[in-house]
Amino acid sequence: MLRALLLLLFFLISPSFSLVCPPEYILVNEQKCLKIVWTPATHWEATQNCTAVSGTLVTIKNAIDNRAIVNLLSGTEIQEIWLGLSCFGNTSSTCFWDNGSGSPILYNNFMGPNITSLYGRCVYMPVANWYGSNQGKWRNIECFNGITPSVLTVLPYICEAPPTTPSQMFPYSCMNNYNGYCYYTQNYRQTYNIAFTSCVMGAVPNLISIHSKMEIDYIRNVYKGTNTTMIYIGAQVDSNGRFYWADGSVWDFDYIDPLDFGEGKCLVMDVQGFGLWSRVDCDQQFEFMCKQKIMVPPTSAPVVSDANVFDEKENAEHPKQLYDASNCNSTLYLAPGSISSFGYPAYTASYCTWQLVALGPYRLGIYFDFWATYGTLTIYDEYGNNIGQFMGTYDRTPFPRYTPFNIATVTFEPMPKTGSGVDKGFHAVILPL
Ligand SMILES: *[C@@H]1O[C@H](CO)[C@@H](O)[C@H](O)[C@H]1NC(C)=O
Ligand SMILES: *[C@@H]1O[C@H](CO)[C@@H](O)[C@H](O)[C@H]1NC(C)=O
Ligand SMILES: *[C@@H]1O[C@H](CO)[C@@H](O)[C@H](O)[C@H]1NC(C)=O
Ligand SMILES: *[C@@H]1O[C@H](CO)[C@@H](O)[C@H](O)[C@H]1NC(C)=O
Ligand SMILES: *[C@@H]1O[C@H](CO)[C@@H](O)[C@H](O)[C@H]1NC(C)=O
Ligand SMILES: *[C@@H]1O[C@H](CO)[C@@H](O)[C@H](O)[C@H]1NC(C)=O
Repeated sequence: MLRALLLLLFFLISPSFSLVCPPEYILVNEQKCLKIVWTPATHWEATQNCTAVSGTLVTIKNAIDNRAIVNLLSGTEIQEIWLGLSCFGNTSSTCFWDNGSGSPILYNNFMGPNITSLYGRCVYMPVANWYGSNQGKWRNIECFNGITPSVLTVLPYICEAPPTTPSQMFPYSCMNNYNGYCYYTQNYRQTYNIAFTSCVMGAVPNLISIHSKMEIDYIRNVYKGTNTTMIYIGAQVDSNGRFYWADGSVWDFDYIDPLDFGEGKCLVMDVQGFGLWSRVDCDQQFEFMCKQKIMVPPTSAPVVSDANVFDEKENAEHPKQLYDASNCNSTLYLAPGSISSFGYPAYTASYCTWQLVALGPYRLGIYFDFWATYGTLTIYDEYGNNIGQFMGTYDRTPFPRYTPFNIATVTFEPMPKTGSGVDKGFHAVILPL
């Protein structure tokens, strides 16, 4: 009781209570949740380590945050850090922040007007004082992922996670508090309808809906080390055969396994694998998860007065897809999306090439869901190594290919003459994994 009172008092007098950070992160500048990792890592390892704690490499959206991060580190032994930014060309519009917030157009701090001629996909920031006027400027370099890293290419880094709201539901603690929501694991199996009903809290349907790749990764982290393999998510098929979220939120993110051709009307998520969703019969029994928005009490004067700020965040500018409308010869194609032979589902024998990319922390999953061609398709990694070639078999059962990092070039070469006209081309769905 005393504790409850103290807690209440704390909420009433604390001016900045309305934002807190996930475990391991500290609140910087009253709005950024950061975790400094002193052990140098290659860029790829750094991105994976941040994903493992439900964050990304640090993102910087304005000069105040840039300065705050330099100040945070300038007295330490850290000289340079990785930033959560991937650049696929020589201009800032070809760079994308790892947390899905688009390109650094409104604010960037690259050293020159163009990205340095020392072209590279990874970006770092010098923070040591002796860098002088270059302190806090951004530079892009080769990532050297998978190549023996040089001294320069293993760097310390900062992970960043979205801040969240402290849960007010005392004495019930919110074990899994992320981005303004409380996630409750339900470790018993039920049919969809019972799972749905069990998650209704105060008339609000709370069987989980999922709206970003970061949220997928958060849920996977919650189930890491448990025996749970599949959970119901709160989606069902409507009368047009399309999925919708039972909590009424917008279907703005789709992670259905492209090679799942099941006909069930409910979805389960594979929480130990990539987190993809597949269709199941709603009478089957699975564990499930509820997701409740954390309410900010009206008695307090929070910095963020409206819990809806988290909805805005979810609707934040999504990265643009830069591709050719012919769906052939794309210079930059940001996953998710799809590629196909020219004119698909009709077929025109045309050579095509695509540069496929994903945000910094993700691999590319290329899911060939249709293959009826005698053409040759080749996948190259960032160094031009052939990492998969398909030819000579006309009718392939659907198959996936995964890239080692977040970039790949795909080429399709039609067979010079398909006399019989039997060639129907191919189609593939691209997902960030
Ligand atoms: C972080 O990366 C390092 C490599 O630098 C690796 O050895 C370590 O296991 C990673 N830590 C986590 C928590 O993933
Ligand atoms: C990405 O991080 C920035 C802070 O640098 C934040 O303002 C933005 O809302 C985040 N975007 C998403 C989609 O989480
Ligand atoms: C970026 O510019 C450099 C030097 O001008 C050039 O060598 C490189 O090919 C360019 N990279 C891209 C992706 O355009
Ligand atoms: C920046 O890039 C553009 C386009 O490639 C080029 O015309 C311009 O000269 C470059 N500017 C500098 C300062 O390198
Ligand atoms: C997972 O299952 C095994 C065998 O059934 C059991 O020994 C173990 O305690 C379970 N682990 C968890 C985290 O539930
Ligand atoms: C794609 O580019 C190749 C090589 O530049 C060209 O031969 C082909 O006709 C192009 N395809 C289309 C559909 O524009």
